[in-house]
Amino acid sequence: MASPTTTTTPLILHDDPENRQTLAGSPAGRRRLSVAKVLSGILVSVLVICSLVAVINNQTPPAANNDGDKPSAAASFTTQLPKTERKQAPGKLDSNADVEWQRSAYHFQPDKNFISDPDGPMYHMGWYHLFYQYNPDSAIWGNITWGHSISKDMINWFHLPFAMVPDHWYDIEGVMTGSATVLPNGQIIMLYTGNAYDLSQLQCLAYAVNSSDPLLLEWKKYEGNPVLFPPPGVGFKDFRDPSTLWMGPDGEYRMVMGSKHNETIGCALIYHTTNFTHFELQEEVLHAVPHTGMWECVDLYPVSTTHTNGLDMVDNGPNVKHVLKQSGDEDRHDWYAIGTYDVVTDKWYPDDPENDVGIGLRYDYGKFYASKTFYDQHKQRRVLWGYVGETDPQKYDLSKGWANILNIPRTIVLDTKTKANLIQWPIEETEKLRSKKYDEFKDVELQPGSLIPLEIGTATQLDIVATFEIDEKMLESTLEADVLFNCTTSEGSVGRGVLGPFGVVVLADAQRSEQLPVYFYIAKDTDGSSRTYFCADETRSSKDKDVGKWVYGSSVPVLQGEKYNMRLLVDHSIVEGFAQNGRTVVTSRVYPTMAIYGAAKVFLFNNATGISVKASVKIWKMAEAELDPFPFSGLLDRLV
Ligand SMILES: *[C@@H]1O[C@H](CO)[C@@H](O)[C@H](O)[C@H]1NC(C)=O
Ligand SMILES: *[C@@H]1O[C@H](CO)[C@@H](O)[C@H](O)[C@H]1NC(C)=O
Ligand SMILES: *[C@@H]1O[C@H](CO)[C@@H](O)[C@H](O)[C@H]1NC(C)=O
Ligand SMILES: *[C@@H]1O[C@H](CO)[C@@H](O)[C@H](O)[C@H]1NC(C)=O
Ligand SMILES: *[C@@H]1O[C@H](CO)[C@@H](O)[C@H](O)[C@H]1NC(C)=O
Ligand SMILES: *[C@@H]1O[C@H](CO)[C@@H](O)[C@H](O)[C@H]1NC(C)=O
Repeated sequence: MASPTTTTTPLILHDDPENRQTLAGSPAGRRRLSVAKVLSGILVSVLVICSLVAVINNQTPPAANNDGDKPSAAASFTTQLPKTERKQAPGKLDSNADVEWQRSAYHFQPDKNFISDPDGPMYHMGWYHLFYQYNPDSAIWGNITWGHSISKDMINWFHLPFAMVPDHWYDIEGVMTGSATVLPNGQIIMLYTGNAYDLSQLQCLAYAVNSSDPLLLEWKKYEGNPVLFPPPGVGFKDFRDPSTLWMGPDGEYRMVMGSKHNETIGCALIYHTTNFTHFELQEEVLHAVPHTGMWECVDLYPVSTTHTNGLDMVDNGPNVKHVLKQSGDEDRHDWYAIGTYDVVTDKWYPDDPENDVGIGLRYDYGKFYASKTFYDQHKQRRVLWGYVGETDPQKYDLSKGWANILNIPRTIVLDTKTKANLIQWPIEETEKLRSKKYDEFKDVELQPGSLIPLEIGTATQLDIVATFEIDEKMLESTLEADVLFNCTTSEGSVGRGVLGPFGVVVLADAQRSEQLPVYFYIAKDTDGSSRTYFCADETRSSKDKDVGKWVYGSSVPVLQGEKYNMRLLVDHSIVEGFAQNGRTVVTSRVYPTMAIYGAAKVFLFNNATGISVKASVKIWKMAEAELDPFPFSGLLDRLV
């Protein structure tokens, strides 16, 4: 590869009116900006009112039966136009109905087309900013552009003009994945991978033209791009996804990137920089693991071993561990490990080499990829975003006009009890979408082989919290060992063991011709100890033979004295499942044809042969999130 050309122009990180791009530079754009400014003021007031309403609502005693569809007033910005479940338009039951049905109601999606990796998430001047890989032209991958949306709560969004489009030789085949860094003087930069005309992967720099703009509408690519070429020995397509920068003890900034060497050794390269245009590759990699293939979207971040708040990269010292995560290009899973990062030598070491990055733990055992965390200084938490792909044929995506969804953002912390795994949980703002009233089912006895319907009405947009108790004595006295159990290779929820499966069936029609069981399965070892699994069985989720169906899952730690618990976020074609408060997460994509709209139902089941289970469940209906296009006219109409 060519060596980096020394650039003549120093990095200019201030406004340069001559080179102003696009929208906001036009008079119309400026007008929109000022409208937006006024609006952000209004929004803040609305939010304050909403949170007051939320406080009031929380004091109302919950009713046991949800008869109406009224969402909490704090459910969205639209206090005047409450929306709940997206309903089938009357008389519109055409052949496309099940396809329309698949569109999520409260997950992040643009209006149409293909999306994938989240990019450069951050909190800036009162707004959460999310950028993402986007094809403006089609529901399949191509012409990758940076979409840009902002939010006050990471649930309701405003879509802004594109931040970056493929328009230079170094990114003409795609403005690929990247990360945001806020410099000490407040300037905001993005490092991203450009797919050049010859498909080589080059690292590029862009910056917010006006970092004092809360909306960060204008982005400019650095004139000296690209700032980084693949080093000798690294394939020109094995070099991508620069991380957020952080300062080391020597005052130099660090950046990590995914790569692989010697064909199969996945690794994280580490670079130093002082001026963000010139990067020095460190001689040794941050970390490498044989036989893991190309690492994408490398993420390194600290977690507290004692507290549940998130940490910024600079928060180091005692009671801090570092998580290293990579997205495995070959198996398309996000793998992490907990370990120690030595800030002086820039090396990372796993706590447990047998559970190293790529051979141990995953964020999500279902459909989830290319994730990235960011530190939210507003609420002192670390938040995880990834994308949840389709598992249907591409021709379906083309006919429905969109593909892929982002997960509901999750807070991510170390499990301070086990210290061996992370805990992921939907951000608290998700609960703003919950209906004021919820359905509650207490102490439901589930005999071996039972299935109990939960009558809640339409069951397509739900937040379900379920706990299960089993007789400890029966668990201990069971002698039958089940050492070979594995969610994926055992028989799904149909395979009956002494101690499982038991759980919740969602997106099922009354006859259960379609259903998605999400469940626990307790497997005993020969030494009398037991291991619990959390699985989702998609095999009967759709009558459509052409959509992908798997049994997903993995083991989940259940500590002495803990009940079994799960939370399920059901949203049309996506179900995010969190077991034991988020120790193990499984996300499913399903495409029912019968169990849609009013036909979708929820059941409890126990297919264990040797134990009865006592279940308690709360179910909230979830309102639709707001996704408003720039320049927010819809919102303006509703507010004035
Ligand atoms: C950035 O720093 C490097 C190394 O210190 C130096 O060689 C280079 O000229 C600098 N680049 C700019 C644009 O200032
Ligand atoms: C990319 O954009 C060009 C120009 O808008 C369009 O002709 C082409 O079909 C697009 N390609 C894809 C794969 O979307
Ligand atoms: C940057 O944005 C802020 C806030 O919108 C505005 O007050 C300021 O005038 C802008 N600066 C420039 C140079 O346009
Ligand atoms: C990678 O391959 C080179 C050349 O075959 C060899 O010299 C080197 O030791 C290998 N490195 C590793 C880490 O296996
Ligand atoms: C379960 O089976 C799958 C598919 O064969 C395999 O990839 C996975 O490693 C197995 N899990 C465990 C924990 O053995
Ligand atoms: C429970 O097992 C029976 C018999 O194998 C099966 O027909 C049924 O579908 C299973 N229940 C669930 C929810 O999978």
